[in-house]
This record gives sequence, C-alpha cells and structure tokens, in this order.
Amino acid sequence: MRSKLAVVGQGYVGLPLAMSAVKAGFDVVGIDVDSWRVKRLNAAESYVEDIDGDRLDEALRSGRYLASTDYADAEGFDVCVITVPTPLNEGAPDLRHIGAAGRSIAPLVRPGSTVVLESTTYPGTTEEYLLPLLEEGSGLCAPRDFFLGYSPERIDPGNPRWRLENTPKVVSGLDALSLNSVEAFYRHVVADVVPVSSLQVAELCKLLENTFRHINIALVNELAVFAQQLGIDVWEAIDAASTKPFGFMRFTPGPGVGGHCLPIDPSYLSWKVKRSLGHNFRFVELANDINNHMPDHVVHRLALALNQRRKPVNGSRVVLLGLAYKKNSGDCRESPAIEVVRSLRKLGADVRAVDPLVDGYQLPVGVELVELCRRELSAADAVVVLTDHDCFDYRLVEEASPFVFDTRNRCRGGNVERL
Ligand SMILES: NC(=O)c1ccc[n+]([C@@H]2O[C@H](COP(=O)([O-])OP(=O)(O)OC[C@H]3O[C@@H](n4cnc5c(N)ncnc54)[C@H](O)[C@@H]3O)[C@@H](O)[C@H]2O)c1
Repeated sequence: MRSKLAVVGQGYVGLPLAMSAVKAGFDVVGIDVDSWRVKRLNAAESYVEDIDGDRLDEALRSGRYLASTDYADAEGFDVCVITVPTPLNEGAPDLRHIGAAGRSIAPLVRPGSTVVLESTTYPGTTEEYLLPLLEEGSGLCAPRDFFLGYSPERIDPGNPRWRLENTPKVVSGLDALSLNSVEAFYRHVVADVVPVSSLQVAELCKLLENTFRHINIALVNELAVFAQQLGIDVWEAIDAASTKPFGFMRFTPGPGVGGHCLPIDPSYLSWKVKRSLGHNFRFVELANDINNHMPDHVVHRLALALNQRRKPVNGSRVVLLGLAYKKNSGDCRESPAIEVVRSLRKLGADVRAVDPLVDGYQLPVGVELVELCRRELSAADAVVVLTDHDCFDYRLVEEASPFVFDTRNRCRGGNVERL
C-alpha cells in the first residue's frame, strides 16, 4: 500500500520536499492557505526557484501530487510535515502559523500517524507548543497513539550542488518509536539521515548553524568597515587567510543579510535564552546590530563617493546590480538591497535596478527594473554591485560605468571603489 504524505506549507521548504516525496513513491498532498499559490501549483507553475514547471508537471501527471487549500484533502495521511513560516513579531517569535497548521491538522491525526515539524524555531516548540495542540484537537496522546518529530530543513535555495536529497538530514523524535518513524520516512527521501537524541537538540542544531553564519558574516562586515578606514584591503586579507587549510572558514563582507535564516533565526535563539535564563545572547545581538547597519553603511559610502565627484545623492542616477539577498538566487525576501533602495529613494536618488533572476511580484513598489546594457551603465552617476550574480557581465560594468561601488569584490579599475 502506498503511503500518504501531507506537507503543510508549499513554499521554499515544503514544495521541494513534496516533489522529492512524489519521486520516492508517496502520494502527496501539499496544503497551503494561499489560494494563488495553490492555483499556480496545480497549473504546473512554480514560484520556487529550485523546482521548475516540468518537475511539477511530472508530479501532477503521476497522479501522486495535489496542491490544495483544503485540509480535508490531507485526510488519511500517514506522515504530515509542517513547513510554515516562523517570522518575528516585534523581535519575538511569532508561532501563529505553526499554531494554525497544528490546529488544522490535529483532527486528521489517527493512531499510528506521524507529524513532523520542519519550521525553524526555538528549542521547546515541538514539545511545548505543537504537541498540546495536536493532542487537544485529535483526542489522542503522543507517543502512545501517534508519533511526533522535528527535523530542521537545510535547504539552500539556488544551490546547485547541495539539494534536499544529498544534504544530510537531522531527525529527532519525542521518544524512540517516534524517532524510528521519522527516520524511516526521511530515509525514503534523502540519502543521509542523522538521528539525534531529542527534539530540542534538533531544534537547537538548526539555530546553531544559522547563528554561526550570521556571526561570522557580521565579523567580516565589521572588519570591512574598519579595514577601509585603516586603508587596508580587507578582500586581499580574506583571500590570504583562506589559504590556511585548517581552522579558518571563508566569509565575505556584503551589504547586509537577507532571507529568513540569517536575519531572523538567531533572534529565536536569543529570545529563548532571555526568556528562559534572563540573559542576553550578546553575540547574536551584536551580529544583528552590525549586519542590520550594513545597508546604511553602503548608502553612506556611496554618498561620500558621489560627494567626492561633486554630486549630491539627490537627483543622481544610481543603478543597483542585484536585488536578491544572495548570489544566483531570485529571492529578495528581506533583502538588504531593498533597504538600500528605500534609503536612496528617500535621499532623492533616481534608482534603477538590474536583476534578471528576481520575479517581478516580489519587488517593492517604485523599483524600476532595467536591462544591464552599456546605455544604462553609462547614463548612471553610480553603479552599485549589491548581489554578485554570475550572469552579470562585470567587464561591461567596469568599462561602461563612470563610477562603480562594488560591495562584492567583482570589479576592478580606476573607476571602482570596493566595500
Ligand atoms: N527558505 C529557506 O531557505 C529555509 C531554509 C531552512 C528552513 N526554513 C524554514 O522553513 C519554514 C518555512 O520557510 P519557507 O521559506 O518555506 O517559507 P515560505 O513563505 O516560502 O512558505 C511557507 C508557506 O506556508 C504557507 N502557510 C502559512 N500558514 C499556513 C497554514 N496555516 N497552513 C498551510 N499553509 C500555510 C504560506 O502560504 C507559504 O506558502 C520557516 O520556518 C523557515 O525558517 C527556510
């Protein structure tokens, strides 16, 4: 008999999981409250960059995938994986979506079902928050009647090397039987499964990974600010340090951090530490402070450079290269580039942007998208490299632009200033 999987949330995490599970032979229902998304999915139109329309089409044609806004379509599931957003609300974790998903799925939980949370969240969420909702709504009791687990998602949108299937997956369960069930499910979908001893270890593992990255990016960002003031080439120093074969990991400066993992997840950890222990997680707070300040720093450096050229920001034409929050991705959620756009517009700049990877519907109002061409570049007072997509012709940028402010170390020349 085929197993039925319900994936709640069909976004960057849920949709790739649904597709991989279809490939592994599951009957999959992708539940999402966003009817526009569900409509697009059932028409084989993807809005998630790692899943193309052909893959969706194949899944739909197999008869083993259905997207739906109706939780009733998840009835009879064997495994349900929850992949809904976990934003911040005034700096505090906002578990509203996990709560809604848990309450909706609870009446469908049967004896022997397995429910797994994948949303990134603070340690304790699965057991202290989700479990009571599931028990109350189902009238059942875990682990006696159903299994519960947590498995952090490590998906890296746009990464062609590391995908869901070949990235080791950490799994955990409420008890040993839950862990067995969760592990057995993921062994069908991913090559390497890493069981850990508790839900809290798995929850903390995800926050550790993201906090590590956040803090190291903050370190090189602050270093970039000071090195420039000291007249030292930070990029060359990073290249030199990267030749060390052990004990060093390369991180590079940039205009700030975006997406969900870096700007938001570490605050889930610091909130938990503050609430449970009364302590400030100083590393996280400092990293937030530094990284959040980077878009302002970029605008400040640009204003100084324009000033040197006897130009005010007000009225200058600025062409921004890259709006997505990371290289070769089209995702501009919480992108620092959007902050840069806002600040420059406030100062009266005529802002244009080039980003062939960004889907128009994600763009904030007022950003004019243009092509990367000699005419646009030469008509600009400044060209700013914010996200270093490989598809940009950097030689053309160097050649045609009167002035380039490069935050990603891709351009060279007398008209180029780097972060
Ligand atoms: N995007 C990433 O790279 C990434 C990586 C690792 C972990 N995560 C974590 O995974 C979780 C999901 O992130 P995402 O990027 O997939 O978010 P997303 O916004 O792309 O997708 C979430 C989807 O859930 C839907 N949703 C919200 N509430 C719902 C509900 N009650 N019932 C059904 N659907 C609902 C939304 O409509 C949306 O389509 C977050 O906790 C995030 O931190 C994301």
